[in-house]
Amino acid sequence: MTLPTPESWSRVDRYLTRTLVGDDPALRDAVADQRAAGLPAIEVAPLTGKFLHLMVRVSGAHRVLEIGTLGGYSAIWMARALPADGVVVTIEAEPVNAEVARSNLARAGVSDRVRVLEGRAADVLPTLADEQPFDLVFIDADKESNTVYLDWAARLARTGAVVIVDNVVRSGGVADPASETPQVHGVRRGLEMLARDPRFDATALQTLDAKGWDGVAVAVVV
Ligand code: DHB
Ligand code: MG
Repeated sequence: MTLPTPESWSRVDRYLTRTLVGDDPALRDAVADQRAAGLPAIEVAPLTGKFLHLMVRVSGAHRVLEIGTLGGYSAIWMARALPADGVVVTIEAEPVNAEVARSNLARAGVSDRVRVLEGRAADVLPTLADEQPFDLVFIDADKESNTVYLDWAARLARTGAVVIVDNVVRSGGVADPASETPQVHGVRRGLEMLARDPRFDATALQTLDAKGWDGVAVAVVV
């Protein structure tokens, strides 16, 4: 048996990525341009991108809401899973990130299915209240605000919608009493909300990949 060291889990991550995702020019170029523009290397790992893609397909989502666009990597994955009349509405606070994302989305050929809304999510989310409800929400922005974003997810999504939250393990910090950063507190508050708020039914999965030890929470809007 191989113990899960960073070396062995990275090898497994590379194996699974090579086997199940493969090389994809638009996604590769998106990551390259994101790095060149100096954006942080915190886009979801390829297997997580494909997980998001499959969640959109499995749920039959037409309307997807993403909080935290970064360079558009996850939006490309989700947009590709949409039917012809589907849309990803993605919110980004950082203008430079939004610009990189628009260019990446255009090159990937999904601009017609993705609306990049620039601004702080807490300000932009209320403006979506009059639109049709969302079928899937992906939360991947400042962790301190996870409960705010979950509250908006519950308000803006239909009953039965899928809600996915990135980065709920944070290298084990979520369950480490010595880990007291504002981000870890935000993640814990979000998980406690998923557990107690009757609008959600949720679980979480740990991940070991190129980004290290982390995880995603997955919930349904009840
Ligand atoms: C950070 C944020 C992310 O969304 C992520 O996937 C990894 C790290 C961060 O802010 O450190
Ligand atoms: Mg993330």
